[in-house]
Amino acid sequence: MSDTVHTECFDETPTRVVSGHGALGSSRACLAGMGIGKALVVCGENVVKLPEVKEFTEACEGCIEIEVFSGAEPDPTDENVLEGGRMGREFGAEAVIGIGGGSSMDCAKAIAAEIGAEGWINAQDRPGEPTEIEHDVLPIVCVPTTAGTGSEVNPFSVITFTGTERKLVLNHERLYPRCAVLDPALLTSAPKHVRVAAGLDALTHAVESYVSTRADRSTRKWAAECIGLVAEYLPRVAEDAGDMQAQARMQRAAMVASLSFAQTRLGIVHAMALPLSALFGVPHGIANAILLPHGMRFNCPADPEAFAKIAELLGEDIDGISTEEAANLAPSAVEKLAVQVGAPTTMSEVGVEEDAIERMAEDAMSSAHVQVNPREMSREDVIAVYEAAM
Ligand SMILES: [Fe+2]
Repeated sequence: MSDTVHTECFDETPTRVVSGHGALGSSRACLAGMGIGKALVVCGENVVKLPEVKEFTEACEGCIEIEVFSGAEPDPTDENVLEGGRMGREFGAEAVIGIGGGSSMDCAKAIAAEIGAEGWINAQDRPGEPTEIEHDVLPIVCVPTTAGTGSEVNPFSVITFTGTERKLVLNHERLYPRCAVLDPALLTSAPKHVRVAAGLDALTHAVESYVSTRADRSTRKWAAECIGLVAEYLPRVAEDAGDMQAQARMQRAAMVASLSFAQTRLGIVHAMALPLSALFGVPHGIANAILLPHGMRFNCPADPEAFAKIAELLGEDIDGISTEEAANLAPSAVEKLAVQVGAPTTMSEVGVEEDAIERMAEDAMSSAHVQVNPREMSREDVIAVYEAAM
């Protein structure tokens, strides 16, 4: 194992985190050490072409047999899961390795469960009901190629069910990855708009988790770490994909935000962002980035101390001003950061039509994230936040 690669364990997740330059290569030894002889790699069609991934699969030859399922779509569907599951069963996979953004990792988790029980995914299209897994799930290894979702250390898997057009979050402790491999070399091929969207998604996870009604000292510690890292390193990553120190710090930021929000859940911004993606195809991180300052302004009165701290973490000078004044600096600090990294700042810029606001507000209010938002929100409040973001 290279001396730049190290392993960490956390109280918040059973996932072992292996990180550093060369982490992907060293995970080969880790898999072999787990007694795994056959692994199904799950990824999208672009990731399969990455040189690091090719190197990894070639290097496995002789010790671990690899089969590649490159059919994980950007919003993975139940059909992707069935197909990957079939391939994994026929191959005799003993582990599933998800390489890619959140979509590929989420797809890999569901495929690992599907391999053990054919047709399992079909029974999970039940909104509001807990995910059921009564069989053993193959060990899951997640290898992120974007620094955003933090799916590599949490038990969530977002799957779109084609029959009902429902996008549901599966959540079960057996979907926790056994191991997460954070290799910053894998982040460099993503284009700027993807790096920016991913980083702003991680920031939104951290801010929403920090102020969630379920937040505690431990979740706030991780959320605070993420906010500070994003403020410092996202501008560098946006500017230069080859800045490996900044990439590694963003990878850490996304991962620790996930340790936090897996406990607390999210809030108004994620609830409102989902319809922007579902109806207008706005990338998840961009939808969050546009709505985040407006959601923060709405939430500020509920917890000014928390928002004052967030302003400070984002680099604002809060010395000698009142808590309320400091809290009010937090949303504008996010706006400044979004402009600095070149993200869109209004819904109209990304093609959202004003007459969809009522419908989007209905959808947002049905999200479970509403329940942990620090300030109670009505349909009218949501409409006002959308209008402010137009
Ligand atoms: Fe998110």
